[in-house]
Amino acid sequence: MSELEKLKSELKTINAEYVKIKDLPPEQRGEFGREMNKKKQKILAAITAAEEALESENIEPLDISAPCAPNQPLPQLKLGSKHPLMTELDRVISIYSDMGFNVIESQQLDDEFHMFDSLNFSKGHPARDGYDTFRTEEGFIPPAHTSTMQHRALKKYRKDLDTIGQIAVVVPGRVFRNEDVDTTHEHTFYQCEGVYVSRDATMGQMFGVLKRFFELYYGQDLKIKTQPGYFPFTEPSAELLIEKPASLGGKGGDWLEMLGCGMIHPNVLEMAGIDPEIYHGFAWGGGIDRLVMLKYGLTDVRYFESGKLDFLEKF
Ligand code: DAH
Repeated sequence: MSELEKLKSELKTINAEYVKIKDLPPEQRGEFGREMNKKKQKILAAITAAEEALESENIEPLDISAPCAPNQPLPQLKLGSKHPLMTELDRVISIYSDMGFNVIESQQLDDEFHMFDSLNFSKGHPARDGYDTFRTEEGFIPPAHTSTMQHRALKKYRKDLDTIGQIAVVVPGRVFRNEDVDTTHEHTFYQCEGVYVSRDATMGQMFGVLKRFFELYYGQDLKIKTQPGYFPFTEPSAELLIEKPASLGGKGGDWLEMLGCGMIHPNVLEMAGIDPEIYHGFAWGGGIDRLVMLKYGLTDVRYFESGKLDFLEKF
């Protein structure tokens, strides 16, 4: 028998005893009644306490997603903050958009055509292996660079050549590579692609645009230099480096490779329906993570995707 059942049966006994009051001589009835009442009140209080205890044992299972304990006032909730890469990506986009570039976002699942064929990678070309590309079971490709958007960007803005004589687009986006992760390599990171086409686009214009971009982003004058590169979708191809400024810890002569670039290969223009005999273009693509790491003196790229709040909250 449970504690509560015992108490209830005691209450019954008392109630049953109470009826004996009528058999008592009148002068004893008052005393007897008071005694019985006292006992009864005691038992009733014990029953209430036992019932309450039972109720609190039977409360709902704990909801660990609730922001506070059951029946407790809602705590002051801490608001999250924008991810530092998104804040910086916004800055990058606003610099390019002030320069007159359109902005389109890349997609996180693409195909063989946009990843390789439309970028002049011939079938079976070893450069295809250089991109550590993930593939889904269905054969889709989480893009390994934002260049997958070049073909789409050229087609989408092709009509601008007839109206304003140029195509100017940047494409920020998330990219994925199947490579070993360490302090400078992540499987998931961000890039920004740029594409410019006109009748007389030159490498010199491109270096001017990029130098200005880096100077605006880092808020100071910078030195740039280039070295030869190889990409199937540009000819000639180059890598652009900036000299690490003293304010960011540079000691002079520290050159950092920031992006790949070049004159858009005639085949790439032609596949997008643009006549390479008439038009010329340049394109570039570089990592956002690296840009941000230099700005804030960060030494481990893995922090960005780590979900470590103490890191993220600093921004
Ligand atoms: N997509 C290249 C990469 O991720 C970078 C690049 C090089 C982009 C040359 C371009 C370009 O647009 O013209 O390694």
